[in-house]
Amino acid sequence: MVESGVAAGVVAGLEDAGLAVAVFDGVEPDPTDAAVDEGRAALVAHEADVVVGLGGGSALDAAKTIAVRGGNPGPMRQYMGYQELVGAGLPVIAIPTTAGTGAEATRVVVVTDTSTDTKMMLLDDRLCPTVALVDVELSATMPRPLTAHVGVDTLTHGIEAYVSAKATDETDPLALACVRRCGEHLPAAWEDGDLDARAGMARAAYEGGAAFANASVCLVHGMSRPLGAVFHVPHGLSNAVLLPTVTAFSLQGAPERYAEVARALGLVADDASDVAAAGEALVAGLEDLNRRLEVPRLRDLRGVTRERFDAALPKMAQDALASGSPDRNPVVPTAEQIEELYRRAW
Ligand SMILES: [Fe+2]
Repeated sequence: MVESGVAAGVVAGLEDAGLAVAVFDGVEPDPTDAAVDEGRAALVAHEADVVVGLGGGSALDAAKTIAVRGGNPGPMRQYMGYQELVGAGLPVIAIPTTAGTGAEATRVVVVTDTSTDTKMMLLDDRLCPTVALVDVELSATMPRPLTAHVGVDTLTHGIEAYVSAKATDETDPLALACVRRCGEHLPAAWEDGDLDARAGMARAAYEGGAAFANASVCLVHGMSRPLGAVFHVPHGLSNAVLLPTVTAFSLQGAPERYAEVARALGLVADDASDVAAAGEALVAGLEDLNRRLEVPRLRDLRGVTRERFDAALPKMAQDALASGSPDRNPVVPTAEQIEELYRRAW
C-alpha cells in the first residue's frame, strides 16, 4: 500500500481535511502479536484518536487489534475467545483493498502468537470497525493468484455461514447473496480483472463478512488457521485448498443447505430437487473452480514438505479443534477425522 502510493492518497485526503496523520506500515501478512504492539507504540507516539486500516485482511485485523490495545494492555492471550476484551478501543475506519476477507464487517481478528506459533482468535463487538469504506478501484490491480485466493475465501465465508449451526434467518440471505455473487463474478474477476466483476466480489466480501460475523465460520476455517500458523500459508489460499475436501466430508450433515449452495452457484438448476446429486455437483464444482483459478494443491506449496506436514498433523488437528470453529460444522469431526481430511487435501 505504501509502495504503490495508495497510502499516500489516503494520507493526502486526510491532511486536506486538516488532520494530522502518521503512517504505520509494519504489518506483515498474518499479523503477529509483536507487530500489533509495534503499531500500538506508533499509535501512542502519534497520540492518535482514530485508526484507519488500509489493506487486505492482515492489515485490517492489525488495525482493529491495535485500536483496542490501549484499553486491553495485558498479554494478548488473555483476550482470546468470545467477548474477553475489558476496555473500549479507538474508532476504526476500515478500507479493504483485496475484495476478499470481509474483515471490514466483522468483530473477529486473527493474530499469531509468536511464542507458540498458533493463531489466536479474538471475537468482540469492540473489534468491529466503526466505518467500512469499500472502494472497488483499490482492488483493481490485484494479481491473479491473490484474486483467486481471497475470492475462494469469500465464497467459503458465504458457504460456511450458511451451513453453520449458528446460521439464522437474518444471516441466511447475506450468506446466499455472497455465494451467488461469487459464482457470478469470481471467474471474470480472475480472468481479466474486469472492474464490474471486481465490484461484485467486493460486495460479496462484505456480505460474506457480515454473514459469518454473526453466524460463525466452520471447519474449513478451523483447519485453515493451523496451516497458516505452522506453514505460513496465506489465509485465502489455506482455505481454498481445503474447501472441496471439507465440503465433501460435511455434506451429509446439512444436505438441503449444501443443495441450496449448489443452486446459488448455478451448478444445478434453481428447481433441482435431487439433494444428493446437488451435493455431488457442489463438490465437483468447487474442485473445478480451484482448477480453473489455478489454486495449487497442498503438496505444491513452497515449504510444505510431506515430512513436515505429517509431523505437524496432530498439532494442527488439536489447534483446529481448540479454535471452536469445527463445533459449528454440519458434521463435527474428531481429531482423527481432521488429520484424515488434511491428508486428503494433500
Ligand atoms: Fe476467511
